[in-house]
Parts: sequence; structure tokens; C-alpha cells
Amino acid sequence: MSQKRIRNKQLLTKVTNPYEASLLIKHGMTVATSGFTPSGYPKAVPQALARRVKDTGEQMKLFLITGASVGDELDGTWAKEGIIDRRLPYQTQNDCRDGINCGSIKYTDMHLSHVSQYISYGFLKKIDIALVEAAAITEEGHLIPSTSVGITPTIIDKAEKIIIEINTSQPLELEGIHDIYLPENPPNRKPIPIINAWDRIGTPYIPVDKEKIAAIVITDIKDNVRPLAKVNDVSQKMAKNLINFLEQEIKDGRIPKNLLPLQSGVGSVANAVLAGLVESSFENIQLYTEVIQDSVFDLIDAGKVKIASSTSITPSKEGLERFYNNISKYREKIILRPQEISNNPEVIRRLGVIALNTAIEVDIYGNVNSTNIMGSRMMNGIGGSGDFTRNSYISVFATQSCAKGGNISTIVPMVSHNDHSEHDVQIIVTEQGVADLRGLCPKERARAIIDKCANPDYKDGLYDYLERSLSKKKGHIPILLDEALSWHERFEKTGNMKVDAGKNSQKGNS
Ligand code: COA
Repeated sequence: MSQKRIRNKQLLTKVTNPYEASLLIKHGMTVATSGFTPSGYPKAVPQALARRVKDTGEQMKLFLITGASVGDELDGTWAKEGIIDRRLPYQTQNDCRDGINCGSIKYTDMHLSHVSQYISYGFLKKIDIALVEAAAITEEGHLIPSTSVGITPTIIDKAEKIIIEINTSQPLELEGIHDIYLPENPPNRKPIPIINAWDRIGTPYIPVDKEKIAAIVITDIKDNVRPLAKVNDVSQKMAKNLINFLEQEIKDGRIPKNLLPLQSGVGSVANAVLAGLVESSFENIQLYTEVIQDSVFDLIDAGKVKIASSTSITPSKEGLERFYNNISKYREKIILRPQEISNNPEVIRRLGVIALNTAIEVDIYGNVNSTNIMGSRMMNGIGGSGDFTRNSYISVFATQSCAKGGNISTIVPMVSHNDHSEHDVQIIVTEQGVADLRGLCPKERARAIIDKCANPDYKDGLYDYLERSLSKKKGHIPILLDEALSWHERFEKTGNMKVDAGKNSQKGNS
């Protein structure tokens, strides 16, 4: 087995066990790992390190850099043992999230396209250890990544030492699916030569300086992927609204009949909305995106996909089995690139990507919060949503009109945290309808969003706020500062955002 997976004979001498490999990691180090939404991350060495820290009580605080979210074996065990001192750029793990929100983990929430260049520009501390998962090592000692590419090429290049986890649960047929290309730093950067989503511009492996490989560990722990919520009535309505919107764009001649390349965000809502395209009339769909969730396999099975370019394969558990069982079919349609390329503004703008992301809340002027619940509590992070939204051909945000069983309106007077500003957000989709904000002034936007997207339970309250702000305030964007966030305060106090609009009118305040 080892010879098939580690084809460079010299490197067989580096094979060791996870505990021995973990001894290379020392207190105060910066450790950068493979992994993206949680696929293709290292699993055995992180767990061995956490066990070691638990058993010995030794001091261990690390700066952890990943491509995006990673699984429990890394974020979870390290957060539980208090190993993570500093973390970037994205996470979705409960213990890690709790650490961030209680302040024990210093978290930098970053655009994912920036991570590799932050490293290669020298903006971050030097990387002591690159800890990466691979499906195999070639005869030349180069790396065949597994289910994600993320920042692996950059950290392999920049780290002092490299620890590799060869994961035998990752099929060898992954070889050939990757396309590795790293841009040079300015002033020497050249145009990235991707003209079509299907273009391959690099190598199918990550070049490695063999001298830096300090340890190789063999493991068979599977990607601990996340479940996706079942497609329900509400998400089906959102998908239908989005498809109607796209069909109208085609009729109006603004996009071609097989669409432009699509990006679809993470999470259940994004998955459900994309799944809705299976029933659509669109053919030869191209994806230029960062995550491939289950719905992409549905689309491939329905014969609707020309190419899906991404940096990770990030399905549910069942979706991952489905991918492994049909890998020869799916790999024909999939290219995995470094996240610096999958999320690259230059390429996104050139291809004319239609960006579909999910909002936690949207305000009536078109600002979007994707990250912080009630303005304070970090959920996951901005991920790639900013990379795509700002640079897309059309930027769409989808959200259910209510959260928490109807107690929260996701359409609010003012977002409690702003990730995507009114300047970048063009289309809002809820199960209620679609608000097209392109070319509208703020006051027009407010009416469009309330009218088309707000839940009927909250419409009167939102109109009431809008009318009072228009009558009381002059200015381009009339905001009642003392009241704008009162909806959030009300939820925090009573567990419900609903407003008595009449009462507000009389008091002028809530
Ligand atoms: N106020 C309070 N809680 C809210 C809320 C709101 N306005 N809107 C959603 N939530 C809660 C939900 O109740 C749910 O909580 P639970 O896990 O306790 O049930 C949680 O947030 C997730 O919401 P859900 O509706 O299930 O959406 P999702 O799984 O599709 O995730 C985001 C939505 C926004 C959290 C997710 O898409 C994300 O992290 N986005 C940022 C990164 C990104 O967009 N990357 C895109 C490029 S891949």
C-alpha cells in the first residue's frame, strides 16, 4: 500500500506515527494546514497533539491558519484543549466558535482569496509547519491533494517544515482532478490565463521541496463532512424565485441562455437553491465556485453540468459516499484549484460569475450581514462570499424571510453587522419574492426590499419604520439612529422581533 501512495522511495523513510509527528509542533508556532469547508484537512496528527497536550498538560498555544473550515479532529480537539491562540480565516466548528465568542481565540475573519497572498506577501508570521493531507506522493516527491486544494500550494512553498498525512480513505482516482497554479507577487504578477471555467492552467500536483518534508503519517480517517438540511417548501420557493429571475434576465438579453458561470455559497440554503436548478430548463451549466455540495452531483446526474470548477468537494456524508462510488463519472466534470484562483477577483470578473450567497440578515437599504448573529456572535465567517459578491456579474443573496421559527425577521431596518455593503448587493431573494436593487436609490431600494422580500408578519413594522424615518430625517439614507437596531434589542429582551407598529407611530420610538 505505502509504495502505491508514496511513490518516491526515498520518502518512505519519513513515515512515522501521528504521535512522533506531533512532537514537531511546539508551543508558540504558526501551523498552517490543508482543508476547506471541511474537506481534505489533516486529522491524525491534530488528534495526536490534542491527546498529548491533554495527557501531559504541557503548554501549547498555536496560531492556526487553514484554507477555510476544518473538521472536529482539528478545530474541535484543539479548541477543547485550548491549543488555538489565534485563528484565521474561517471556521464552522462549535467549540472553536465558542472560543471565538468568549474571547479565548483571537479570530481574524478574512476574505478567502486573501489568505494565500497574505502569506506570500509576508503579512503574517512565518509558517513553522505546513500540516497537509494528501491522497498520494508522486515519484518526484510531489503532492496529490485530496478533496480540497485551499492554501496547500502556498503553505507547502512557504513553511519551514512539512508534515504530510497520506489518507487512504481518499481514492487514488483523485489524481488528475486538481489544477495547481500560483500567481507571482506584484510587480511580477501576470494575468491569470483562465478564459473559460474549464481551462486548466497548471499542474495536477503540488510541487514540493522534498528536503522540507519532516514526517509522513498514514491514516484512513474520513472527511468529517457536515449534514445538509433537507430541501423544504421554503427553500423550494426561494429556488423557484431565483430561477424565475434568471429566466427573465435571459429573456431581457442580459445573460446567455445557458447562464454565466455560477458560484454558490455554503450551507443548507445555498445547497437547496442550487438543487432547484435540476428542474430548470438550463443546460450546460458552468460553476466557478469554491464549494461543491450535494446539489452539484444532482445537477451532474441530471446531465446539466458542463464543468464545476471549485477548490473543494464539500458534500454531506451521503454526498461524499456518492462521490466516492461514482468518482470516475464526477471527476470528468470537476476541477479543483487553489483558493487563490477559485476565488480570484480577476477571474470572477472576467468570467462574469453569477454569485449566489446566503445572508443572515439584510437591511432595507441593501446591506448584508453574513457573519455575526445580533451583531456580536460570530457564526462562521465571511468565507468567499465577499470575493464573489464584489466582483460578480450579478450578485444575489438568498435568505428565508424569517429565522428562529418566525421570531426574527431577516429583513431589518439596519443590519447589526455589515459584510456586504449596499454598493455590492444587487438582488435579494426570499421565499416571498425577488428585490432587484440595480440602479435604485436607497429610498427605492427600501420599498423594493420590504415589498418583495419581507415576511407579511413584519411588513407593517418595516413600512412604519421607513415612513417615520422619511418624515423625520432629511438626507440620502434616512436612518433613525436611536431606533434602527431596536428590533435586535427587542429580540434579545423578549425572544421576538415583532413590533406593534401603531404604538411606535405614537411614541416615535420603540
Ligand atoms: N438571526 C439569528 N439567527 C439566524 C438568523 C438571524 N437573522 N438567520 C439565520 N440564523 C441562524 C439559523 O437559525 C441557524 O441557526 P441554528 O444552526 O441554531 O439552527 C443558523 O443561523 C444557520 O442558518 P440557516 O438558515 O440554516 O442557513 P445556512 O446553513 O444556509 O447558513 C450562513 C447561512 C449565512 C450562516 C452561511 O451561509 C455562511 O456562513 N455564510 C458566510 C460564508 C459564505 O457565504 N461563504 C460563501 C462562499 S462558499
